[in-house]
Amino acid sequence: MKLTSKPCDLEKITKAFPSPRVLVPTMGALHEGHLTLVRRARKIAGKSGTVILTLFVNPTQFDKAEDLDKYPRTLDDDLDLCRENGVDVVFAPEPDSMYHPDHSVTVIEAALTGQLCGATRPGHFDGVCTVVLKLINLTQPDTAIFGKKDYQQLAVIRRIVRDLNVPVCIEGVDTVREDSGLALSSRNARLTKSQHTDAPRIRRALLAAQTAYHGGEKSAQALLNIAREEVESSSEGAVIDYLELLDATSLQAVDPVTSPAIMATAVFYDAVRLIDNIELVSDKV
Ligand code: PAJ
Repeated sequence: MKLTSKPCDLEKITKAFPSPRVLVPTMGALHEGHLTLVRRARKIAGKSGTVILTLFVNPTQFDKAEDLDKYPRTLDDDLDLCRENGVDVVFAPEPDSMYHPDHSVTVIEAALTGQLCGATRPGHFDGVCTVVLKLINLTQPDTAIFGKKDYQQLAVIRRIVRDLNVPVCIEGVDTVREDSGLALSSRNARLTKSQHTDAPRIRRALLAAQTAYHGGEKSAQALLNIAREEVESSSEGAVIDYLELLDATSLQAVDPVTSPAIMATAVFYDAVRLIDNIELVSDKV
């Protein structure tokens, strides 16, 4: 496995590694969710292709300095996991080498980023869009892989690729969960034990709405109320940041629900913000 922290070296290295090249961008603190993306990447790249994983806690996508400071950094463990899971190239740059002191170009997506995480985290998606395009440019992959847990992120990246003609295939991978249903996230480690026990209610809330949808309920307000009730009955003080029901492609609010739609939520346990979503598709039972 080849490790580099310098963007200029990475360009040389990736050119020397054979196609197909498959990119898995991450911010590190790798868990089974990330590793599922890596395994998919390995499958797409085959034995002779190249899996490239990036480890970069991108400062421009954090709206709060505290969140950036607290983001877990576990480089040695991450590198071990990369080795064990068949990654060929790891790119782990320092922020200074990714952003020139006078950098002045930002990628802004204008239709899908005003809602959900974009509404409560100003500038977040500008940072994500810019860094993802930079990482794609640096690694020139045939395919780049993202998790559906960050549904809005995946939709926004697909839009950048479409609208800017970026020559890459985008692959989405289903959310990996604990047995309890809680979506795996590096933030789960910051929950107290009792918050961790309570947090699977986020998944239960979304599943309850999905069940009602399949039972014939098409009113977005009614479906949102079902999910809201489950989250708000938390004994651990879960606080909804947002809970919305949107068209799956345009990410615009729908009521009544037209298929396919997405119910997405962000929930705070103290300062820890967890996100999850569920698809409402009429032919899925
Ligand atoms: P990060 O949060 O590290 O996530 C890296 C990738 O792993 C994302 O595509 C995310 O959707 C996916 N992922 C995380 N948890 C998952 C889970 N439980 N199941 C499936 N996939 C999961 O998302 C980012 O980093 C950054 O915004 C990034 C795209 C790297 C840009 O900085």
